[in-house]
Amino acid sequence: MAPAFEDETASETNFSDVEQLHKSKVTVVGSGNWGSVAAKLIASNTLKLSSFHDEVRMWVYEEILPSGEKLSEVINQNNENVKYLPGIKLGKNVVADPDLEHAVKDATMLVFVTPHQFMEGICKRLVGKIRGDAEAISLIKGMEVKMEGPCMISTLITDLLGINCCVLMGANIANEIAVEKFSEATVGYRENRDIAERWVRLFSTPYFMVSAVQDVEGVELCGTLKNVVAIAAGFVDGLEMGNNTKAAIMRIGLREMKAFSKLLFSSVRDSTFFESCGIADLITTCLGGRNRKVAEAFARNGGKRSFDELEAEMLQGQKLQGVSTAREVYEVLSHRGWLELFPLFTAVHEISTGRLPPSAIVEYSEHTPRLNVLEGSAQYC
Ligand SMILES: NC(=O)c1ccc[n+]([C@@H]2O[C@H](COP(=O)([O-])OP(=O)(O)OC[C@H]3O[C@@H](n4cnc5c(N)ncnc54)[C@H](O)[C@@H]3O)[C@@H](O)[C@H]2O)c1
Repeated sequence: MAPAFEDETASETNFSDVEQLHKSKVTVVGSGNWGSVAAKLIASNTLKLSSFHDEVRMWVYEEILPSGEKLSEVINQNNENVKYLPGIKLGKNVVADPDLEHAVKDATMLVFVTPHQFMEGICKRLVGKIRGDAEAISLIKGMEVKMEGPCMISTLITDLLGINCCVLMGANIANEIAVEKFSEATVGYRENRDIAERWVRLFSTPYFMVSAVQDVEGVELCGTLKNVVAIAAGFVDGLEMGNNTKAAIMRIGLREMKAFSKLLFSSVRDSTFFESCGIADLITTCLGGRNRKVAEAFARNGGKRSFDELEAEMLQGQKLQGVSTAREVYEVLSHRGWLELFPLFTAVHEISTGRLPPSAIVEYSEHTPRLNVLEGSAQYC
């Protein structure tokens, strides 16, 4: 008869096999500045939490570095994204993978975090390549505008991949979280509170406080629209108009964010604008952040150098979201006949495209905004 301890070991092994089978596997799709920080946050937690596999895959859009080496190989050798997050160790359990299909194949939790303009192409490549029981979360700020109307990125993911998608947004300038400075974030979920709590556990650390609200559209629109207001704040800085003007632009911007969100989705909650994804993200983006910075340079140059040129020169491969979001918002506004209701959003697009000078950012109020937001509906006064 075999000794008792052998039997125990065998049953332990089986138990551990079953446990392994039920552990969530996380893949981060994207490896820019925020993508790399998200992978670092998640990897520190998967090591501690028994319900997750330790390893975190991170899909890398392959690039050849000036040294001639491949970015993904350098990340795996140094445990550091030398291009998008230099000087920060990601955690040894982060594995960079340049093969998109391979990176997502076994994942039960997919974290999408690429610039929004690449998402439709990425989702199309992933159709039929992911697990049917996978859950997704989008950290992406931006929207797609289609013939039938605006489409939020979480909806794009759900529609193209047939999976549930939460969102995570907040006052989160990636470089500050990378060095573990305290900040907060908001998870937006549709119905399933348990799934939202799993995402909260995956992201929360003592320096990154995450809470969940049942308002996917509200959270996602906050994160998306504040980049348009940040462009306006950058114009104000470039024109050296001072703090009162910037505060006024932020207030008007917040009002337009709320009105636009509620006109598109009546389910959007007022309280969402007081979460980290709302007012807090608006403030941090209008004080710091790349959209504000490049818009400041645009205004200092009197609008004579294009955003594309300034983005390439100032951001070293990182992408601006505010200018393309302003164009997308403008398309929605003009299509629906709402341009006059949103003078700040409209002016940002017209200045960005050179139709108006940067100084027009404070002249728009002469067109008397006739927006009166009453109990969630926008009406003419
Ligand atoms: N950086 C931040 O502080 C921050 C904070 C919160 C949210 N976000 C949001 O996160 C999202 C991702 O931003 P980021 O900062 O991680 O990226 P980033 O702007 O730092 O980097 C750009 C990324 O896009 C990749 N890329 C370039 N061409 C591509 C292509 N054709 N297809 C796919 N990928 C391509 C690059 O390899 C790189 O990983 C954006 O929606 C952004 O608004 C960023």
